[in-house]
Amino acid sequence: MTTATWTSQGHLLGLETLSSAQLRSIVGDAEAFLPIVHGTMPDASLLEGRVVANLFLENSTRTRVSFSVAAHRLGAEVVDLLGSSASTSKGESLVDTASNIAAMGVDGIVIRCAASGGAELLAQHVNVPVINAGDGRHEHPTQGLLDLMTLLQHFGGELAGRSIAIVGDIASSRVARSNLWSLTALGADVVLVGPPTLVPAEFASVVPEEAGRGAVSISHDLDAVLESVDAVMMLRIQFERHDGDGIPDDYRERFGLDVERAGRMADGVPVLHPGPINRGLELAPEVADGPRSLILRQVTNGVAVRMAVLAGLLASDG
Ligand code: CP
Repeated sequence: MTTATWTSQGHLLGLETLSSAQLRSIVGDAEAFLPIVHGTMPDASLLEGRVVANLFLENSTRTRVSFSVAAHRLGAEVVDLLGSSASTSKGESLVDTASNIAAMGVDGIVIRCAASGGAELLAQHVNVPVINAGDGRHEHPTQGLLDLMTLLQHFGGELAGRSIAIVGDIASSRVARSNLWSLTALGADVVLVGPPTLVPAEFASVVPEEAGRGAVSISHDLDAVLESVDAVMMLRIQFERHDGDGIPDDYRERFGLDVERAGRMADGVPVLHPGPINRGLELAPEVADGPRSLILRQVTNGVAVRMAVLAGLLASDG
């Protein structure tokens, strides 16, 4: 694992290749940008004159707007290309679309696409920084970073020895994959919770056993882990990635975090969710909006993380 600055990679495609020092470096930069997000410091001009292309070929609320706000706060201009209006809907390939956008002289491309590995493919074909905003079931690195930042804030800057449950549709989740890399890199143990159809056994061996890295385990019984974990990250059931199979009829009863279950968690154990939430399915509204919830803090931190990523890649891009 390299100790060089993460920006030397030229892109942000995933968290798998980042060391704990590199992850902490991005979160540290994000913390420095947070007063701008909170409005207690004026916007920065680090990216004045730069143009960021948001190429979102799958739907998004949080990530796309968050990248736009982050770019504006740094003085950059943003152009948006959305799936329904992009020529990919006429059959143009992802690489052709991105190559044409790069040829227009943009300074960076933020890409969300349905293809796992799509961001890396673009990075091989364009000569500007590529930032992965979620590629299929592969990774969602800025979501992983904002989750990491939120948990580090909550636990006073250290995650070593903490146990974090990620609950739900793990099989479909790029968020879970990014979090597996970042949380274990910081020494947290992760327990993946859900029915066998949504938590394949191979997830237990995704991350290697390494000194200093946390362990990954699997449980199919939420009630068995809920009272012993330090944080709970609920995931959305991604109905669009299932053909009606894999989601048990009694999912809500067995794996939904309702008021009664949340009441059995230890005091102070926080609840996270990347959004969008299926309210009343994986997460009760009272819990999503209750005192344990860090969900809106995650969203605010997301702008700061995206500022750190954009500044790191585009300001250092010459
Ligand atoms: N968390 C997340 O990726 O949300 P969006 O799909 O709204 O961007």
